[in-house]
Amino acid sequence: MAKAAVQFSCTHCGYVAGRWFGKCPGCSEFGTLLEEAVPKLKAAKSGGGTAKPLLRLVDVQVEEAARIPTGVPELDRVLGGGLVPASLVLVGGEPGVGKSTLLLTALQLMSADRRTLLITGEESVAQVKLRAERLGGAANVEILAETELETVCDTLVAERPDVCVIDSVQTLYSAELGSAPGSVAQVREAAGRLLRVAKENGVATILVGHVTKDGTVAGPRVLEHLVDCVLQFEGDRYREHRVLRAVKNRFGSTNEIGVFEMTGAGLIGVPDPSEVFGRTHDGEAGAAVACALEGTRPMLLEVQALVAQSDLAMPRRVATGVDPKRLAMIVAVLARHAGIGLGQADVFVNVAGGVRIDEPGADVAIALAIASAAKRLPVKAGLAAFGEIGLTGRLRPATQADRRLEECTKLGVATVVAPSGTVSRGKIAVAQAETLRDAIKAGLDAARAEN
Ligand SMILES: Nc1ncnc2c1ncn2[C@@H]1O[C@H](COP(=O)(O)OP(=O)(O)OP(=O)(O)O)[C@@H](O)[C@H]1O
Ligand SMILES: [Mg+2]
Repeated sequence: MAKAAVQFSCTHCGYVAGRWFGKCPGCSEFGTLLEEAVPKLKAAKSGGGTAKPLLRLVDVQVEEAARIPTGVPELDRVLGGGLVPASLVLVGGEPGVGKSTLLLTALQLMSADRRTLLITGEESVAQVKLRAERLGGAANVEILAETELETVCDTLVAERPDVCVIDSVQTLYSAELGSAPGSVAQVREAAGRLLRVAKENGVATILVGHVTKDGTVAGPRVLEHLVDCVLQFEGDRYREHRVLRAVKNRFGSTNEIGVFEMTGAGLIGVPDPSEVFGRTHDGEAGAAVACALEGTRPMLLEVQALVAQSDLAMPRRVATGVDPKRLAMIVAVLARHAGIGLGQADVFVNVAGGVRIDEPGADVAIALAIASAAKRLPVKAGLAAFGEIGLTGRLRPATQADRRLEECTKLGVATVVAPSGTVSRGKIAVAQAETLRDAIKAGLDAARAEN
């Protein structure tokens, strides 16, 4: 009997090889190559196709594709103003973060005036019904418990709902391929076919994807290239705030975030996160308020720092919600240009509410929190900070300073420490700082030393 043909494909980058490697030759990741059956390809016929007439872009007719409001304002914001008809969206997130809850809520709200379908491969119909009842009923949402890819595609073609959620893409299985559900080949095939069905039949499709331990959406990168939009649902399972972030969006900005709070009755949008995350306790050393920009939305966030004497040869730099490389850079600039040496100290930095700051505009506030912890001096009451720190210790102007100042004014901040050149337009006071040393001097309250 002939030996079944197998190949090894990388779960990380989709690289395919004839034999197993410990390290993927494509992306240099270790232990990511998995065995699977070689997909049977039909022999390509040469010259079998027919040439088609070409169009110039000027002649292309565009039907104004009105976006579908999902009914969840925070989700709409991240999608760039609603769901685009016939688009394919991938929602990733850790187990239990609330993907199914969010999407069921959205389906329920959209079902008022549209046909919505939930294809569940992970939970039984009864389980979904229980959740729906907890969320306040989703009577009009149609549901199908199915994992066979062909059946799912045929159903979509026959029923043509406006919106379809598939929970999850890893459970879909095509018997033609012969490899296990969730394998690279299966996920790639499922996404490819669903993409075609979605575009041809005008079904806006949302795929739920699992996340691997390093935080990327499981399945090959190919999946992320295929879909129109990749949303990442983040946040600690053990804390109630969740952040939805666009990683890729063909129809909008990728910097937008949506903030939710998980409650017994489902996920509730937090329209004003600054109110929740941007408060410090007056007189406490080691906390500063950053005014960071997330997409078009300025947000006040509390940054906490702890500086503790270390016995380790290499003191620790632990960052939660801040890029560790950025933290190392800020610690180095503090030592070199602001006279705050931390060579013998562990430094821990944490951003409130499990939010992640990717933006350099938060540098000054992070430095201020560390300086405050190191010197045991609290930051002045009612003070926020923004600005990027350069390697020479000079502050660089942050983008969209006006919007940041506006948000600070709204939240009742009295003074803002910002790079020089930032001009206040309202009644808020701006303490302009040329260098990091100036910013720390302007930010710390020297009169109130902590014991
Ligand atoms: N009765 C409840 N009260 C409060 N929160 C609840 C309740 N039931 C579930 N939750 C929250 O909902 C979360 C599960 O949400 P959900 O099933 O939508 O997650 P998921 O991202 O779809 O997970 P998975 O990847 O396992 O499918 C739980 O972790 C919990 O925080
Ligand atoms: Mg789920």
